[in-house]
Amino acid sequence: MPSIITTSSDNSLSLCQLLDPEILADPYPLFHRLRREDPVHWDPYLHSWIVTRYADVVRVLHDFSAQTAPSPQELTAKGLSELNPIAQIMLKQMLFLDPPAHTRVRSLAAQAFTPQRVEVLRTHIREVVNVLLDTIDPNGKIDLMKALAEPLPCIVNAEMLGVPVEDYRQLKLWSQDFGEMLGNYQHATDRVRRVLKSLGEMTSYFQAAMREQRLHPRGGLVSSLMNARIEGESLTEEEVIANLIVTMVGGQETTTNLIANGVLSLLRNPEQLAMLRADFSLIPPAVEEFLRYESPSQHTSRLAPDDMEMGGKRIRKGQAVIAVMAAGNRDPERFADPDRLDITRSDNRHLAFGWAAHFCFGAALARMEAQVMFQSLLERFPVWTLEPEPLKWRGNLGLRGLTVLPIRVEKCNSCRPAAHERSTQ
Ligand code: HEM
Repeated sequence: MPSIITTSSDNSLSLCQLLDPEILADPYPLFHRLRREDPVHWDPYLHSWIVTRYADVVRVLHDFSAQTAPSPQELTAKGLSELNPIAQIMLKQMLFLDPPAHTRVRSLAAQAFTPQRVEVLRTHIREVVNVLLDTIDPNGKIDLMKALAEPLPCIVNAEMLGVPVEDYRQLKLWSQDFGEMLGNYQHATDRVRRVLKSLGEMTSYFQAAMREQRLHPRGGLVSSLMNARIEGESLTEEEVIANLIVTMVGGQETTTNLIANGVLSLLRNPEQLAMLRADFSLIPPAVEEFLRYESPSQHTSRLAPDDMEMGGKRIRKGQAVIAVMAAGNRDPERFADPDRLDITRSDNRHLAFGWAAHFCFGAALARMEAQVMFQSLLERFPVWTLEPEPLKWRGNLGLRGLTVLPIRVEKCNSCRPAAHERSTQ
């Protein structure tokens, strides 16, 4: 959960700089400065250490505690008791647990989300993408966010959960609200009110889904989480709901931004777009490069498990540390020419899905959704143009994504027919 901003004089290296829309539009010079000038930086505004080198980010994600969600007692002591219902959910989400509690919840959830189940979704993802592409006006202007990048992960997510697909717009609104809680540092009263309302609604929604599925079981995470057992152990109803919420939020906001940030990166690097259009075997490495280059999840928090030294600084046990994966992903010590988008990059062990025990639970699904989307979009509409409008990045500092992405997509008469056209010829 975000900490509270306090005031101090020099803030030029503070992550609060991201509140400036110009810096948010291109945060990488700030990350380079941090890494060069003070790679393990105490940010007095956030009461946190900021870590920006690749090797240090790996160390933090590997060794530090993920138990960053405050207890209701801590919040009450800080006069923030209104946040208690949110903290109570977060305390049960795998993202904020250390072993052995983390191992227990994650193993039970993994039973519900096997690679085989992800593979089953592949054909279905293709169908969903084709239906979305059918609605696009050829030679027309679209907002890529609304037309493709938002609906695909929401629809797939609803399928994955095993709830009615027609609820996907509502699930999206709830996810967006909860995502604000995960990605931001400040507590704005109106936002907290909205998140609390969404949380209440989501909880009732999943309780009803669980009741329904006890009577009429169907495939999907709701039922698998309810029924998962390891050595007689199962999840409580509260744990099921908390982890349905983290999976839903984790799966929607980030995958949307992977798709849209990837399209924007290609539009800004037309030679890479041309290369990809000419050779679809480059799609998997291109998706990895989008994840590295414009990471949808820019940073995450941990707590120091002991007093320790890092980058010549003394970190005290229990102090907060923000690991900036998006900065580690541009570390020249790890990636050659890191500010260059290179869809053929082969040594690309980026940090976009995190590292170690909390490595993204849905990475395989996100990769599949993005790969299918890029191939189908390029097959159907190979010509893309960015509309000459200023781009606006979402105010969420942790989840990097645009509010709208106006582009023009066109068919290409001289290009090869799309796969779905070839199959009907
Ligand atoms: C491009 C898409 C995605 C990105 C960039 C992304 C990023 C991440 C990152 C960085 C973490 C680790 C956070 C940390 O260590 O603090 C994480 C964890 C997680 N992600 Fe994703 N994610 C994506 C897609 C998904 C999808 C599709 C799902 C759901 C199916 C999902 C569910 C989760 C869950 C449940 C966790 C917590 C895992 C744990 O704590 O053990 N994510 N994700």
